[in-house]
Amino acid sequence: ASRPRALSGIQPTAGSFHLGNYLGAIRQFVALQETHDAFYMVVDLHAITVPQDPRDLRANTRLAAAQMLAAGLDPDRCTLFVQSHVPEHAQLAWLMNCLTGFGEASRMTQFKDKSARHGSDRITVGLFTYPVLQVADILLYQAHHVPVGEDQRQHVELTRDLAERFNTRFGDTFVVPDPYIVKETGKIYDLQDPSIKMSKSASTPKGIINLLDEPKVTAKKIKSAVTDLETEIRFDEERKPGVSNLLTIYSTLTGNSIADLETTYQGKGYGALKTDLAEVMVEWVTPFRERTQEYLDDPETLDKILAKGAEKARAVAAESLAAAYDRMGF
Ligand code: ADP
Ligand code: NA
Repeated sequence: ASRPRALSGIQPTAGSFHLGNYLGAIRQFVALQETHDAFYMVVDLHAITVPQDPRDLRANTRLAAAQMLAAGLDPDRCTLFVQSHVPEHAQLAWLMNCLTGFGEASRMTQFKDKSARHGSDRITVGLFTYPVLQVADILLYQAHHVPVGEDQRQHVELTRDLAERFNTRFGDTFVVPDPYIVKETGKIYDLQDPSIKMSKSASTPKGIINLLDEPKVTAKKIKSAVTDLETEIRFDEERKPGVSNLLTIYSTLTGNSIADLETTYQGKGYGALKTDLAEVMVEWVTPFRERTQEYLDDPETLDKILAKGAEKARAVAAESLAAAYDRMGF
C-alpha cells in the first residue's frame, strides 16, 4: 500500500526559526519523512499578510529552506518547495473562501491575536483569510496528517470542516486530514515568561531561543531562564512551568525520559540543570548553524532543490485543483 501523506508549512521569518518551531513542528517534519509521502513548504504567500519588503522576503524564503534542510529534511525523502512556486495554492484558496462562512473565519483565534498586535488600519483582508489559504495548502496534497504545534490545531479543524463540506456538496474530492501534534512538544514556552508560548512576535529577546543565535547567546539565555523559588527539579506544568519547560526541551533533544532526568537531578539545583541543558543546546545549534550556512553559501544548489520540489508538488496540486474545478461546475 502507498504511504499516508503528510503536509506542513512554515513561514519565512526574518533572522531564524526558534526552538518552538523546531520542537513543535520541524522535528516532526523530519520524522515523518520516514513513514509518509511528505510535502513541506516555505509558505511565502502567508508572509505578505503583513507588510513585507520584497528583498527581505526573497532572502528569508531561502533562509527558511536552508534551515529546514539543516534540521534534517532530505530532498530525496520528502518534497520541499516554496508555496508561491505552485500557483494552485492561491487558486484553490479562492474556491475555499467561497465555501467559508464569514462568522466561521471570524472565530479563528490566531487572527484575533495577530490583528490585536497590529493597528486596525493595517489589518488586511489577507490576514483575515489566511487560515483559508492554509486550508487550500493542506487539501491540495490530500494530506492525511498535518504536523504542527498546538496553536495551529484550530486551522486544521477548519480544514477538516471545509473538506467535509466540499465532499458533501460536490462529491468525494478531498482527504479529511488529522492534526499531528506531539503532546510533549506541541507548546514550548517562553524562557522568561513560561505562561506564554515561545513566539517570534510575543517573546522578548531573552525569552526566545533563535536557532541561529551565537551559541554563547543561546547558553546565556538558557542559564537565565525563569524557574521558581523552590529547588526541586520535578515536572509539574501547573506549579513549575519554567522547570517543566526546561525538562521538556532537555528530554526531547537528548532522548532521555523526563523521569530519568528527575532522578539524575535529584538533590541538585536548578543551576546544574541549566548548565547541562545549555551544553546540550550548544551541541545542537553549532552544527545546525554550520549546515544552514553551507546551504546559504550555495544558492544554486538550494534553488535547484526547491525547483525540483515545486515540480513534484505541482503535479499533485494540479490534479486536486482540476478535480475541484470540475466538481464545482467550471
Ligand atoms: P510563530 O508562532 O512564532 O509565529 P509560526 O507561526 O511560523 O511561528 O509557526 C510555525 C510552526 O511552529 C507551526 O506549526 C507552529 O504551530 C509551531 N510553533 C510555533 N511556536 C511554537 C511553540 N512555542 N511551541 C510549539 N510549536 C510552535
Ligand atoms: Na504560529
